[in-house]
Amino acid sequence: MKSTSDFLVIGSGIAGLSYALKVAEKGSVAVITKREISETATNLAQGGIASVFSEEDSFDAHTQDTMIAGVHLPDEKIVRMVVESGPQAIRDLIDWGVKFSKNDDNTYDLTREGGHSQRRIFHAKDVTGREIERALVEAVQNHPNITVYENHIAVDLITEAKQTHRRIRPDRCLGAYILDIEKKEVIPFGARITVLATGGAGKVYLYTCNPDVATGDGVAMAYRAGATIANMEFMQFHPTTLFHHQAKSFLISEAVRGEGAILRRRDGTAFMAGYHKLKDLAPRDIVARAIDNEMKVHGDDCVFLDITHRGEAYITDRFPNIYETCLSYGIDMVKEPIPVVPAAHYLCGGIKVDEWGESDIQNLFAIGEVSCTGLHGANRLASNSLLEGVVYGNRAAERSLERHCEQPATFPGIEPWDSGSATDSDEEVVVAHNWDEIRRSMWNYVGIVRSNKRLVRALRRIQMVQEEITDYYWDFNITSDLIELRNITTVAELIVRCALERKESRGLHYTIDHPETDDIHWKQDTTIRKQF
Ligand code: SIN
Repeated sequence: MKSTSDFLVIGSGIAGLSYALKVAEKGSVAVITKREISETATNLAQGGIASVFSEEDSFDAHTQDTMIAGVHLPDEKIVRMVVESGPQAIRDLIDWGVKFSKNDDNTYDLTREGGHSQRRIFHAKDVTGREIERALVEAVQNHPNITVYENHIAVDLITEAKQTHRRIRPDRCLGAYILDIEKKEVIPFGARITVLATGGAGKVYLYTCNPDVATGDGVAMAYRAGATIANMEFMQFHPTTLFHHQAKSFLISEAVRGEGAILRRRDGTAFMAGYHKLKDLAPRDIVARAIDNEMKVHGDDCVFLDITHRGEAYITDRFPNIYETCLSYGIDMVKEPIPVVPAAHYLCGGIKVDEWGESDIQNLFAIGEVSCTGLHGANRLASNSLLEGVVYGNRAAERSLERHCEQPATFPGIEPWDSGSATDSDEEVVVAHNWDEIRRSMWNYVGIVRSNKRLVRALRRIQMVQEEITDYYWDFNITSDLIELRNITTVAELIVRCALERKESRGLHYTIDHPETDDIHWKQDTTIRKQF
């Protein structure tokens, strides 16, 4: 079997779906998603989407806040463009049916988060992502030109160079091989334009507040196809996820601190004043490192987030989801502080793209968390990611439509998938063990505080697992677990290699071997590209 469409979108979060809605007016769109359509990081986003709106705010202030949070590594031109596109992105979402929270006087209720000098976060209580995903999914499902393929996972990109076994520069993307998970069949999906919107890679780490789908598939596939990858050392650890043995790293939104919550030690002492002038509203890298330090110095398993002073009526109305979830684990945030720890949350690096979301492989775009646009630099400012998703969904759509017109009327021929003499594996346990090995090594050696020795140790383990995967990959029929293991291992390697390259500490990359920020040599991206 074979499938073709004008536009192939891999991923169904805010970036992929908003792109699909924009291009669907001009051609057929296939949306590929690994599980159910709304099983995405967007769906779990609590805080909101940042955009200048109030009279007191300005594009200059939002730009400045983003540059400071990103430790002056963001590309200021890109930051300004994204920030200035914010109001239109909010209007697009409202037009697609998103309902943001409002005040009693019918104005939008703007909240605040760490690193923001103004209230500029549009939100839907504490389930903003769920509301956005709901509206986009509804719009996509009602669109006659969009076909959604649930339970389908991308295996690899199809490029001209791979098809013809020739060295072609720049290479051209022709689509992707996609595994239908239920039928266990790999289908070649041909497309004039392919868009990676696969989200992040939190599952590379043992503890993450990302959904299970966050296995870095897009970055790994683009790397294998020869695209340039940048800034992978900048994995953002969210400072506050619920610490409870049954809770799978449930996020406690930064908006809780934005609305006045204070981080405390076990004995009740507030500690953030000792780390930054913005105290609990310091940028995320600083808060996460402070918590890590507090836990190490005091030998504690967690720290505590205290918002009890805001009272029951406010807390239950503003944070209903967080309140109910904490209560289900026996923690009443109205009466007691919430135990929290940092966990892997957001990948600031990714596939390097231009200001239209276009990669250096022709007809291949990357949008949302999978991409590295220049917006986040060394540390993403809270709630800038949903904004980036809509802005680049829109821009990539605009550029894709131009590229689409330039192409021949017929689709290029694509070879069927060749599974060789592979058989079904009788040792699935190998895959499970290797998953665990990668995620534990990354947590232990490539976490919030790094060193050369720890990074090299991690790289050795990753390379061992890679050898096993290569054997396994060719001998056995592929499964989604094996595809994801191969991808997290590739992404782990890229994170470590970028981290080893950056000989300074900046934002989310902190190493005891180079503790200072070195603007003279390192105010630049780290880039990496597969050599063929
Ligand atoms: C949060 O609600 O704290 C997450 C928001 C974000 O990561 O931008």
